[in-house]
Amino acid sequence: MADLVFGEDAPLFDVMSTMRAMRRLKPDPVPRELIEKLITAATYGPSGGNNQTYSFVVVTDRDQVARMAPIWRRIVDFYVASQSPPEHMSDDAWQRLTATLRYQADHFEEIPVLIVACYELRSARARMMRSLDKQRAGLRALGPWHALSSARNLAKFASTGETASVYPGLQNLLLMARALGLGATLTTWHTMFEQEFKDVLGIPRHVHTYAIVPVGWPMGRFGPVNRRPAADAIRWERW
Ligand SMILES: Cc1cc2nc3c(=O)[nH]c(=O)nc-3n(C[C@H](O)[C@H](O)[C@H](O)COP(=O)(O)O)c2cc1C
Repeated sequence: MADLVFGEDAPLFDVMSTMRAMRRLKPDPVPRELIEKLITAATYGPSGGNNQTYSFVVVTDRDQVARMAPIWRRIVDFYVASQSPPEHMSDDAWQRLTATLRYQADHFEEIPVLIVACYELRSARARMMRSLDKQRAGLRALGPWHALSSARNLAKFASTGETASVYPGLQNLLLMARALGLGATLTTWHTMFEQEFKDVLGIPRHVHTYAIVPVGWPMGRFGPVNRRPAADAIRWERW
């Protein structure tokens, strides 16, 4: 920890290589200006077509957090009971991971901040519908074969575009949290019971939630991430 640098000027590579999922959090409150800084970092991320139709529901109210706790615990119970460790992970490491998941679930009510990342493409879709002539002209220019192929992939194109408009910003948020010394974790398993979380938070139907990021001052230390070497993952020129 002694050689870790904190603050907005912390070296980017150092921040990246020590930004781990921090699930054991102190109940101490997080100043509002730091939360706003995290969200600002998230907004610096790119979005498809520069639509910027993100929203971040920031939950610090104890009653609201408590309403989400039983749903979260139901998911963790299911996850721990049903999942097995990935090949590269030892049984010990898996036990340590599930222990932190359990800890977080058991202490959910104490998490100081939950950031729920949302996105919606209703306005982009409405814009598309207003310019159907342009769409038709574009499809005609593609020719029937490519037009058919693009139509087949339209749903994937739309869902990838929406999803990929959220996570780059969230990675910024996580990196900023680490730089500021705040613990955070990207989580997506709430999507299994998304509507229940949306009901608690009053999130409208057309808005999709992509992650819940618990944030707080960490009990443990930031440390080097444990990853496969990049050399193993790189495939030069072709697969
Ligand atoms: C797409 C995605 C979904 C994730 N969902 C969850 C989740 O639902 N709950 C959770 O505790 N962690 C979740 N994580 C965090 C991962 O478990 C974590 O990043 C991974 O185990 C590596 O751990 P490390 O960051 O501490 O090295 C998710 C990460 C990603 C990228």
